[in-house]
Amino acid sequence: MTDSLTIRRPDDWHLHFRDGDIMRGVVAYTARQFARAIVMPNLNPPVTTAALANAYRERIRAAVPAGAEFEPLMTCYLTDTTDPDDLARGAAEGIFTAAKLYPANATTNSASGVSDVSKIYPVLQRMEAEGIVLCIHGEVTDHDIDVFDREAEFIERHMRAIVRDFPKLKVVFEHITTADAVKFVENSSPNVAATITPQHLHINRNAMLVGGIQPHNYCLPVAKRETHRLALRNAATSGSSKFFLGTDSAPHLRSAKESACGCAGIFNAPFALESYLVVFEEERALEHFEGFASLHGPGFYGLPVNEQEITLERAEVTVPETLPMIGEDIVPFHAGQRLFWRLAD
Ligand code: DOR
Ligand code: ZN
Repeated sequence: MTDSLTIRRPDDWHLHFRDGDIMRGVVAYTARQFARAIVMPNLNPPVTTAALANAYRERIRAAVPAGAEFEPLMTCYLTDTTDPDDLARGAAEGIFTAAKLYPANATTNSASGVSDVSKIYPVLQRMEAEGIVLCIHGEVTDHDIDVFDREAEFIERHMRAIVRDFPKLKVVFEHITTADAVKFVENSSPNVAATITPQHLHINRNAMLVGGIQPHNYCLPVAKRETHRLALRNAATSGSSKFFLGTDSAPHLRSAKESACGCAGIFNAPFALESYLVVFEEERALEHFEGFASLHGPGFYGLPVNEQEITLERAEVTVPETLPMIGEDIVPFHAGQRLFWRLAD
């Protein structure tokens, strides 16, 4: 039995930090586990320009604890009126690593998102030419489409068209939740990849709805039925370089989750690596963990892999029921549960 695993330091290719006090309260959790993270731009107001992203990056850097090495990788929030020149300039200056397509009203702070993908075709053309990665929240928002079908429907209505019309554009299908998305990514060109969250590897939709409504297991896209979870576990642990780590960790205070209209998002940053590793061990795929966590992401983004290493050791950890946050508290993923790996300091 393997009792310790040393791998290159991982990165988180999909993360929400928010801003202000909450951001300052959560950055240390991610900086302890990851060398870099793709920081999502769905602030209120959103990060739509290079100047806004640069200022946000400085605020995050200032919140990294002394002695920790962590670099935020910034994204541009695409809207119907995104300026392709500003995006290209921001990428050339090293401010933007990617741009994020939120269909309008698909999720938290997405009201300013794209109302019709055809409106950003000039931006996508420019991104393809400049080699800027497109991150996609792949869900349709039509009220007549069942919430559990929104990802599969997005593939048919939009994903196929985007990859057909921009064959050289690098596309990350973010936080995939269905066997349909796994198949789409596997059958697409090497320019199409996907991130997978820990929660979608651990839970199916029962975790949200059985025994009463469980708001801390609610995120978007919502967890689907068990067959989809199993397809995601196969994809993540397969060794395919098309699938890599993206936590989608999203801090919402307990009061905002345990409410009549609970927010979408799961805060998994404090024990993200431990959570993923439980899955890789259960799937007998520990040898593929480094690829998923530390190699496939940089390979896809065309960035160097990290030189430092981390060690995870077999040891039981109990995830706290709550963590203090700005005078309130936040309930982390796996609250109160035992995990069987620990990131060594
Ligand atoms: O559950 C989610 N929370 N899904 C998203 O797409 C956004 C995120 C957030 O920003 O809270
Ligand atoms: Zn997200």
